[in-house]
Amino acid sequence: MKRKNQPPVIKRREFLKASAGFAAGTLFMGLEASELFGGTHTRRPDTSIETITLNNGITIPVLGFGTLYLNGEVGEKCVAEAISLGYRLIDTATIYGNEEAVGAGIRKSGIDRKELFVTSKLWVDDSGYENAKKAFQTSLDKLGLDYLDLYLIHRPRGDIRGSWKAMESLYNKGKIRAIGVSNFETSHLKDLMSYAKIKPVVNQIESHAFFQQDRANETLRQYGLQMEAWSPLAQGRNGHFTNGTLAAIGKKYNKTNAQVSLRWHYQRGIVTIPRTSQKAHMSENLNIFDFELDETDMKTIASLDLDITQFPEWE
Ligand SMILES: NC(=O)c1ccc[n+]([C@@H]2O[C@H](COP(=O)([O-])OP(=O)(O)OC[C@H]3O[C@@H](n4cnc5c(N)ncnc54)[C@H](OP(=O)(O)O)[C@@H]3O)[C@@H](O)[C@H]2O)c1
Repeated sequence: MKRKNQPPVIKRREFLKASAGFAAGTLFMGLEASELFGGTHTRRPDTSIETITLNNGITIPVLGFGTLYLNGEVGEKCVAEAISLGYRLIDTATIYGNEEAVGAGIRKSGIDRKELFVTSKLWVDDSGYENAKKAFQTSLDKLGLDYLDLYLIHRPRGDIRGSWKAMESLYNKGKIRAIGVSNFETSHLKDLMSYAKIKPVVNQIESHAFFQQDRANETLRQYGLQMEAWSPLAQGRNGHFTNGTLAAIGKKYNKTNAQVSLRWHYQRGIVTIPRTSQKAHMSENLNIFDFELDETDMKTIASLDLDITQFPEWE
């Protein structure tokens, strides 16, 4: 099987053009734009997290915060902490049952809504035009927001066509800044593309060292979609956090297995949304932008691919 793992191509460029309109030149000192696998990455002035431009022109942070299982007060606290540490992308879903907690965490953080990139997802039980519209409004109400940055069809089940039509309508009304899908295989994407008036921007799929999904990523690139990795740390399954190969690479850079994995995703041009309930891990997972895996490291990590889901119970 052919696996493509390329070394990073990070070109430092003068930021003069982008910053020309800004009188406060010092604000942009130290900022960089880089081109990584065709996507445009731009460092934001408010955080150290770069962004990637999606096919509809909006930008998404390359690293965000996942919230699966972070419910109630814990969820609220974690979301507020993550934002305070610099996370700007927050990933939730109707089925997580934590949209209220996530919304409370956002408010607790005190951050300007416009600084955030909030994703939620339409659950399978809510598929179809009318149901999807209602479900979207319920999500917004629970989150206490008046728009979402990204809304995804969580799984390719039910009346996908009706759901997509509802999402296109909400997008056209300005209630969602970008629409996308999750857990779609090539056949689902092809079908969606045959009738979609608005192209999805993202496919959020399982991807980590043990199920890398290079073929899926290649297909997404051909369609112009950004791949976003769920369970980027494999939830620690298959011994991820004690894996000797990742640890040996990490030792060279004084980084943990989690950091090596997240850096590897980043160098492949993939958006990740690691989840943690621990503040120390939140910081650790953000601290991946000061080292670079070399070509050998990338190839070594590629060799860990088992090419099979580590979450068979979710199939
Ligand atoms: N679209 C979908 O179908 C789908 C499916 C699954 C997930 N998702 C999204 O993707 C997000 C991430 O996936 P995930 O939550 O399944 O798993 P994950 O992010 O791969 O792993 C989370 C686990 O890793 C641990 N962890 C995190 N950082 C660590 C570190 N630096 N060192 C050691 N342990 C660390 C966490 O424990 P601690 O709390 O102890 O740190 C937690 O047990 C989800 O939260 C959700 O938003 C989407």
